[in-house]
Amino acid sequence: MSSSEGLGVESASRAWPSLDALREEALACTRCPLAETRTQVVFGVGDPNADLMFVGEGPGAEEDKQGIPFVGRAGQLLTRLIEGIGLTRDQVYIANVVKCRPPGNRDPQPDEKQACEPYLFRQIELIQPKVIATLGNHATKQLSGKETGITRVHGQPQRLNVGALAVLLYPLYHPAAALYTPAMFKVLEEDFARLPELLGAPVPEPTPVVPLLAPPPAPEPTVQLGLF
Ligand code: URA
Repeated sequence: MSSSEGLGVESASRAWPSLDALREEALACTRCPLAETRTQVVFGVGDPNADLMFVGEGPGAEEDKQGIPFVGRAGQLLTRLIEGIGLTRDQVYIANVVKCRPPGNRDPQPDEKQACEPYLFRQIELIQPKVIATLGNHATKQLSGKETGITRVHGQPQRLNVGALAVLLYPLYHPAAALYTPAMFKVLEEDFARLPELLGAPVPEPTPVVPLLAPPPAPEPTVQLGLF
C-alpha cells in the first residue's frame, strides 16, 4: 500500500510533485484487486499542459493490451470527434476514472474507483486543464460528486473545484454508447461542437444552491451502455 494513500492536497503535491512521479507510482499500484488481473496500468496520454482533458470510465481489452486509453472502437470514435473540432489526441489529455481494466469489461466497483481517485485528482491538478469533458456516467458522477446521470447533465457545463483549481466540467455521452445508438451519436457530436467555445470561456461562478422546496426531479430514462 502506498504511503501517499489518503493524503490531502498539500501532501499529495509533495509526494507526487510531477506527472512523471505520479505515473511511476500508478504503474506499480496494488491499491485494489484490479492490480491482480490487469496486463498493464493505463495511466493516461496526451499533452501534460492540455487545456482540454477527457476522462472515461476504465480501460477495455485493447487498452489493457496497449497501455493507452481509448484505442478500441470507442477510442477510434473519440479520436474522430477530437479531430472534428480541429484538435489531435496529442493536443488534449486522455485518462480514465480507473487506470486498470475491470475484468470482462464490467463496471468499475466503488472501492476500485475510490482507490484510483487520488491519481485522477492529482492528474487534474498537475495538468490544470480549462475544461474536463467526462465521458459517460462513471466519470461524470465521480468528478461532479453528484448522482445525477448523464442523460440529464450531458452538454451542460458546470464549475468544478479540484483543490485550488477551478475548471469547467462538461459531461458528454460515452462514445461507446454512441457507437450503438445513432440518436446518441448525434447528441454527442452536437455537444462536442461546443467544446471550442467552452475552451475560450471563463469558468463561471458556482451555481446557486437549489431551493429546499424544489420539486423532486422526474425519474431519469435508463441508458444501457454496451461499452466495448
Ligand atoms: N477505453 C477507455 O480507455 N476508457 C473507456 O471508458 C472506454 C474505452
